[in-house]
Amino acid sequence: MILIDGKKTADEIKKEIAIEVKQIISTGKRAPHLAAVLVGHDGGSETYVAFKIKDCEEVGFRSTLIRFDDDVTESELIAKVHELNNDDELDGFIVQLPLPKHISEQKVIEAIDARKDVDGFHPENVGRLVLGLPAFLSATPFGIVELLKRYQIPTSGKNCVIVGRSNIVGRPLSILMSQKAVNATVTVAHSQTKNLNQVCAEADILIAALGSPEFIKANMVKEGAVVIDVGTTRVSAPDTKSGWRLKGDVKFDEVAPKCSYITPVPGGVGPMTRVSLLQNTLLAARSNG
Ligand code: GUN
Repeated sequence: MILIDGKKTADEIKKEIAIEVKQIISTGKRAPHLAAVLVGHDGGSETYVAFKIKDCEEVGFRSTLIRFDDDVTESELIAKVHELNNDDELDGFIVQLPLPKHISEQKVIEAIDARKDVDGFHPENVGRLVLGLPAFLSATPFGIVELLKRYQIPTSGKNCVIVGRSNIVGRPLSILMSQKAVNATVTVAHSQTKNLNQVCAEADILIAALGSPEFIKANMVKEGAVVIDVGTTRVSAPDTKSGWRLKGDVKFDEVAPKCSYITPVPGGVGPMTRVSLLQNTLLAARSNG
């Protein structure tokens, strides 16, 4: 069994990005610039955004954090999105999700200029992905495919089962995995899938992205399978300083011995998701000249 080290791979990619940033700056251009919009004080969102800002600093990007209170109106938030769309000093930005219930996430996403949508959530980028056109790819699917590539894990003709059909992970990942560059045969399983255990047990590559801690048990995994765990649920852990720890969607201890490759949580997909946002921002900066 080989443990896939997402942290190490992400660090390698960060070094590559940092070199390119130095080259950009040496030609007299400004550094790539990412902005993050954070609404309210959700613990998870605070942590994710703080990491994104720290990642920017590490590779030499400029970053800007824009905060709103929970009671910001939808139109105020959309006005800010329009302002960021028109800011020539900014290459890309994200609006951290989830948003408070009184704000339509879809409306906010659709207000973002697709050329600055480094999250890859705008319908134009999702449509371009489906058509195999250059697009900003949603960060987690982008990171997973990059991880498979860098570990030289064979994907062509392989049976890939993705558990979960979210707009951010499962759905776009299913499209990427079936594209010619990857060539997997893809099944998207979800809450209504019949005989889920059996469907999973037929996977050469099993990707768990349903957000249910330790849902995937050993009897759902084929001997020699590649298992990618996207889950990052915070579960209560009184023995830790923070009072919580991250749990994946895979019951790691019993599944790992059956696998050819497996990603841990934390340290697997998470760091790759973060670095993909940097890669998209660099792409945006390059296309800005
Ligand atoms: N919330 C959880 N993951 C993400 C992400 O990748 N981007 C944004 N904007 N919000 C998120």
